[in-house]
Amino acid sequence: RFYEKTSTSPVNIAVIKYWGKRDTTLILPTNSSLSVTLSQEHLQSKTTIRASPDFKKTRLWLNGIEEIDIDNNKRLQNCLRETRNLRKEYENKLSKEGVKTVIPLSEFNVHICSENNFPTAAGLASSASGFACLTYTLAQLYELPVSTTELSKIARQGSGSACRSLFGGFVAWELGSQNDGSDSQAIQIAPKDHWPELEALICIVSDAKKGISSTEGMQNTVATSPLLQHRIEKVVPERMKSITEAILNRDFQKFAEITMRDSNQFHAVCLDTYPPIFYLNDVSRAIIRVITEYNSSNEFKKLKAAYTFDAGPNAVIYTLRENIPEIINIIAKYFPGNVENDKDYFSDPDQLFA
Ligand code: DP6
Repeated sequence: RFYEKTSTSPVNIAVIKYWGKRDTTLILPTNSSLSVTLSQEHLQSKTTIRASPDFKKTRLWLNGIEEIDIDNNKRLQNCLRETRNLRKEYENKLSKEGVKTVIPLSEFNVHICSENNFPTAAGLASSASGFACLTYTLAQLYELPVSTTELSKIARQGSGSACRSLFGGFVAWELGSQNDGSDSQAIQIAPKDHWPELEALICIVSDAKKGISSTEGMQNTVATSPLLQHRIEKVVPERMKSITEAILNRDFQKFAEITMRDSNQFHAVCLDTYPPIFYLNDVSRAIIRVITEYNSSNEFKKLKAAYTFDAGPNAVIYTLRENIPEIINIIAKYFPGNVENDKDYFSDPDQLFA
């Protein structure tokens, strides 16, 4: 006897980077950020959650392996607590309205099976899609009558960037000004079909696990980088406005320039951190040079591609669909390697939970 829901969530790649928290428990950022949600065709997280009065404790399997000691996993506990509280409120409301068959799901333990169809080691925003998926699946299971923006405030407490993965298309995470986080939330700037020609090309430079995690790295930056203060006050607010405009006008020139400048500045604040943090390697820098060369090689010096890098050496290249064959050829020429087909990494929850 159990109640079950399954859902999937996409990965998002920021063009204005989130880097720094003003509250590490509630996960409140020091600046707003903006991302593009990638289609789920290639990269996604999938989560199945079962609730039952028969479950002795709450358990979690990540990519097929059970996580022990989940009581100390604060981020997971935050998402569970917040969604459970909302479910409790909802159950009380239904009872008050005289609904007789309210299932007390908020009192049951849950079994959670969460997986990615891409290797986590590649460091490709797996926590973003993972926590978005956890929060969304809990909300579905509990039939919570809340908006996606409301849910984004819960996903945010799992991993900051997760709040942006609840929406498709172009998504802003507004930093907010309240100390309780009640206005630090994600909103959709435009849906995916607003700019269907925009494509993201992912270049895996290394699938080794990164040195310093984003969680730890960003707090070292907050503590030591004077450049971060300049970025927070003088740079990001203006860029948020300009890139939103660029997206609404489908202005690739402007979009590309801001994207590359913001990736550059994010890695500059990493270098300004003391001791410094290096996420880019020689191959990452070679990709920057190749894209810069590609952008200046055409007759009108039109920007045709934009690179961006998160807390690791892998590149994401944004471009318009018409340029994809050209760019793949260039990348293949400079970085001969092989293209791997997507594998199905998902396992059967029935076997896991058994
Ligand atoms: C460089 O969301 O992974 O990808 O909130 O501590 O979980 P936590 O950090 P996380 O940081 C992502 C940083 C980034 C930029 C971005 O996605 O905006």
